[in-house]
Amino acid sequence: MDLLEQLKKLEKQIEKEINEAQDVQRLNEIRITYLGKKGEITHILRGLKDVSLEERPKIGSYANQVRDKVSNLISDKTNTIKKSDLNKKLLKETIDVTLPGRPFHNGHLHVIQKIIDEIEEIFLGLGYDIVDGYEVEDEKHNFTLLNIPKDHPARDMQDTFYLENGYLLRTQTSANQSRDLENHDFNKGPLKMLTPGKVYRRDTDDATHSHQFHQIEGLVVDHNITMSDLKGTLTIVTHALFGNDLSVRFRPSYFPFTEPSIEVDVTCFNCHGKGCSICKNTGWIETLGAGMVHPNVLEMSGIDSNIYQGFAFGLGPDRFAMLKYGINDIRTLYTNDIRFLNQFN
Ligand code: DAH
Repeated sequence: MDLLEQLKKLEKQIEKEINEAQDVQRLNEIRITYLGKKGEITHILRGLKDVSLEERPKIGSYANQVRDKVSNLISDKTNTIKKSDLNKKLLKETIDVTLPGRPFHNGHLHVIQKIIDEIEEIFLGLGYDIVDGYEVEDEKHNFTLLNIPKDHPARDMQDTFYLENGYLLRTQTSANQSRDLENHDFNKGPLKMLTPGKVYRRDTDDATHSHQFHQIEGLVVDHNITMSDLKGTLTIVTHALFGNDLSVRFRPSYFPFTEPSIEVDVTCFNCHGKGCSICKNTGWIETLGAGMVHPNVLEMSGIDSNIYQGFAFGLGPDRFAMLKYGINDIRTLYTNDIRFLNQFN
């Protein structure tokens, strides 16, 4: 069989194979078998040098034709198969745009954090710095430097979780008072600090007690600070939190680290002073403890109490949240029931 006939036969054979090919992979195989480096057509083209000079152009141009034709057939069929594969895939993957979307559940701040943020915002407006304290404190800062020496009965009232080496879980954010005093440079101006955070007591948990709760401590120290500064500040804050129409009442009280000490009540938001179960028929709700910083506290932190005076206060955001939203059990704030928490979104 001469070369020309051989080529024609090969051409038919390849066309048949291309027609029968079902997928892209098979087409690639065909390309390699005939057009690849060691492919049959390539082989014929290379062998042209041995063909007689008269025949060479005829066979050569025919071989080139076959090569181009096969190459085009393979490309066309490959494209056709790819297109139909894509169409099949698209048909299978149709999405039903009428299906309702999956809702994305956004989280939100816990109700206690919201109250803390709200209170911080008010005090930032009054020029206070917000500082973090330590939840693990030493006895010295939690008690001694607050004028509560070792055998003082006030330690029993706040019995707590003791760790080794004289450390304990702080029972009050007041523990940060002496740290604020130690760290403050009075040459740079008055001290105005707010310390929010968790505190711990060995309380039995019930509707109004939790072994862990929150406090926000405030401390102001400067020249000529008086009780009227304290009363003015606390009046502004309680009004901002509970509304301007509520009255504020200051009662004498006792805390070891303030002298004189007071407790602050607001008109019951529920009965507006008439008396109800929430205010235990007094018409008032207790909101926080406060007082003028005891000179001993200043002196123990190296501050001359003849030159500087100050006031301090401590309030409980858990209690504020309960008052503000009518929550009757403090434990619901800590048990993370999503149905409860979602009410404050
Ligand atoms: N530390 C007090 C407590 O836990 C609350 C308190 C009362 C803080 C009076 C103060 C204050 O700064 O002046 O019961």
